[in-house]
Amino acid sequence: MIGDEQVDTVFADPPFNLKKEYGSRSNDNRSPDEYIAWCKLWIDEATRTLKPGGAFFLYNIPKWNILLGAYMSEIGLDFRHWITINIKFGLPIRGRLYPSHYSLLYFTKGKPRVFRKIRTPIETCRHCGGEIKDYGGHRHAMNPKGVNLTDVWNDIPPVRHWKYKSIDRKANALSSKLLDRVVEMSTEPGDLVIDPFGGSGTTFAVCEAKHRRWLGTDIDFAPVIRERLSGDLFLHKNDDVLDLD
Ligand SMILES: C[S@@+](CC[C@H](N)C(=O)[O-])C[C@H]1O[C@@H](n2cnc3c(N)ncnc32)[C@H](O)[C@@H]1O
Repeated sequence: MIGDEQVDTVFADPPFNLKKEYGSRSNDNRSPDEYIAWCKLWIDEATRTLKPGGAFFLYNIPKWNILLGAYMSEIGLDFRHWITINIKFGLPIRGRLYPSHYSLLYFTKGKPRVFRKIRTPIETCRHCGGEIKDYGGHRHAMNPKGVNLTDVWNDIPPVRHWKYKSIDRKANALSSKLLDRVVEMSTEPGDLVIDPFGGSGTTFAVCEAKHRRWLGTDIDFAPVIRERLSGDLFLHKNDDVLDLD
């Protein structure tokens, strides 16, 4: 068992209760009450392991994160952001708006111990190369290192070119670019990150590349994670800049 207050950052990307087939031991088809009760169990446990000032990121669909975020506040974590992860290829749902984002909740246990400022490149059109925004006429005064990262992330690519395609689909791999941001923003080299739903091992691959310590579990995919970490880490290109001034 992990001791109390050992971990700098928790990142959790659980099954979304959408009846998806992961490995044979996963259950992604609970009643709404059961799902929320199950999430509360591991949220409690993850929170116990967090150091004061540690960060807790929870990735899920808005339907669940609205409830889980309320619970995280209730148990004393401090809300920092609801980060919108824009997705281009959601599935349409009859009688609803077209779902086009996932939610990444960002809480801390008290005042954040680490919060590092990230700048992203000025957005350009992929066809003509021109800049997309005019920055209200203040373009000339902008920091040459790039724009302050906002709470809407439009630049997270889908995972397409993964070597183990069938496994990727089952484990539902996230883009390493998302994890890169989480890790850079909330930890320093040597810090400890925990991911209870490792999947294809994205969090751990990023931690290896960024010299963070990590701990993780997955009910079915540990061999996949081991394989990924023993070879190419499959990391996305990331143009973010850390602004440590
Ligand atoms: C959405 S995927 C995580 C994907 C991961 N973030 C990545 O980038 O590869 C959810 C994972 O949770 C795992 N899982 C489901 N129930 C679990 C449980 N009770 N304990 C640990 N892992 C579980 C599944 O096997 C699946 O790999």
